[in-house]
Amino acid sequence: MATGLEWGDQYLLGIKGIDEQHRYLFEIVGRIASLDAVTSSKEELRQILGELSRYMSEHFRDEEAYLQQIGFPELEYHKKLHREIIEFFNASITNSPTIAMIQTKLKFIIKKALIDHIINEDMKIKLYCATQQVDTDEYVYDLG
Ligand SMILES: [Fe+2]
Repeated sequence: MATGLEWGDQYLLGIKGIDEQHRYLFEIVGRIASLDAVTSSKEELRQILGELSRYMSEHFRDEEAYLQQIGFPELEYHKKLHREIIEFFNASITNSPTIAMIQTKLKFIIKKALIDHIINEDMKIKLYCATQQVDTDEYVYDLG
């Protein structure tokens, strides 16, 4: 069933490492979306949410290191946005103790925490690389 939370090519930045990590974030989200609210245990949910939270932090760290490397001008602002996403995500999750509640709110949480950020903010990285002719082969995105 389509949830609107699937990965799509419209999210591609053309920077291989970032794209791979973004794709993997969507994959984890898909696992939460497909959890059976009746038969899945809270422990299962807790584990996947923990994985998502950890992977998100890891990804932000790698992305920020890359932005530093390529001299991205709005690095501090971008870092601040990443911090806000983590806080928003953690607050939303903490306030939603059941699988059904998480799944109901998931679309809103992920849209705000992941999709809007990629579309509105990470796309500026793509634009910057294009206008500054950053050689994305020369600056290697280190996957940690
Ligand atoms: Fe970002």
